[in-house]
Amino acid sequence: MAEILGGIFASHVPAIGNAIARGLQEDPYWKPFFDGFKPIREWLERVRPDTVVAFYNDHGLNFFLDKMPTFAVGAAATYQNSDEGWGLPVARPVSGDAGLSWHVIESLIADEFDVTTCQEMLVDHALFVPLQLCWPDAASWSFRLVPIAINTVQHPLPSPKRCLALGQAVGRALARYDKDARIVVMGTGGLSHQLDGERAGFINKDYDRFCLENLCPKPELLAQHSSLEIVELSGSQGIEVLNWIAARGALGSAGNLEEVARNYHIPISNTAAASVLISDKAHAKRELA
Ligand code: DHB
Ligand code: FE
Repeated sequence: MAEILGGIFASHVPAIGNAIARGLQEDPYWKPFFDGFKPIREWLERVRPDTVVAFYNDHGLNFFLDKMPTFAVGAAATYQNSDEGWGLPVARPVSGDAGLSWHVIESLIADEFDVTTCQEMLVDHALFVPLQLCWPDAASWSFRLVPIAINTVQHPLPSPKRCLALGQAVGRALARYDKDARIVVMGTGGLSHQLDGERAGFINKDYDRFCLENLCPKPELLAQHSSLEIVELSGSQGIEVLNWIAARGALGSAGNLEEVARNYHIPISNTAAASVLISDKAHAKRELA
């Protein structure tokens, strides 16, 4: 049977990928951010997931403004990266879990989430940066990926409520998967940031704190605002928190969950950078038994 081990929530700023490529993890600018991943990496070494189900947003590498699915699920055997123009080295391809992808897609459609299915899908820094933060040795990557893209780029954006419900539906699909899979859920992007326009550089610590405090125990509070309200509160790219909301939905009821690690550091590039690890208590108990 499939098991959900927990969830990882992480910012995905391209400059982080450049810092990794240049080995700057101990540099004073970067260290407070990278140190947040130590407990996450230790946890991953202990729980050894073989599958990552990741909610993220594409920034124009796979979907451009002319064709923008609100929700898209990858169902490919392999996911390639490509040059995105940030100066990042192109990441190595990552294997897909097409069997699990199709199971999730069938379950979502039965649940009336009419997602776009992608048998070919380039994935951008929004996935590769968090993967590199969690597993720095890319040569040893043995996990398989199910990417789920949420449109956080082109208005109209999906509502936080709908993203929470999407995540909950993905969680139900994972719980019903009858093949062995040790699954970690991931949500990438955020927290508050705005890259352009009059409010370029905008960060809202109070709203970020609200998100971090409520993510594990009361995710429905993050879904109380509309997407446009979140753009106001968090910046036009801070709305990437939709990916966190969906990933949190997939982890299910708060009673089964425990926040294990949290880090918040301002700024990384233009972004209030954060990482959170939430583990499933039932899984932790089974491991101890
Ligand atoms: C930055 C943040 C992002 O989320 C992104 O996708 C690109 C750039 C930044 O802060 O530079
Ligand atoms: Fe982004």
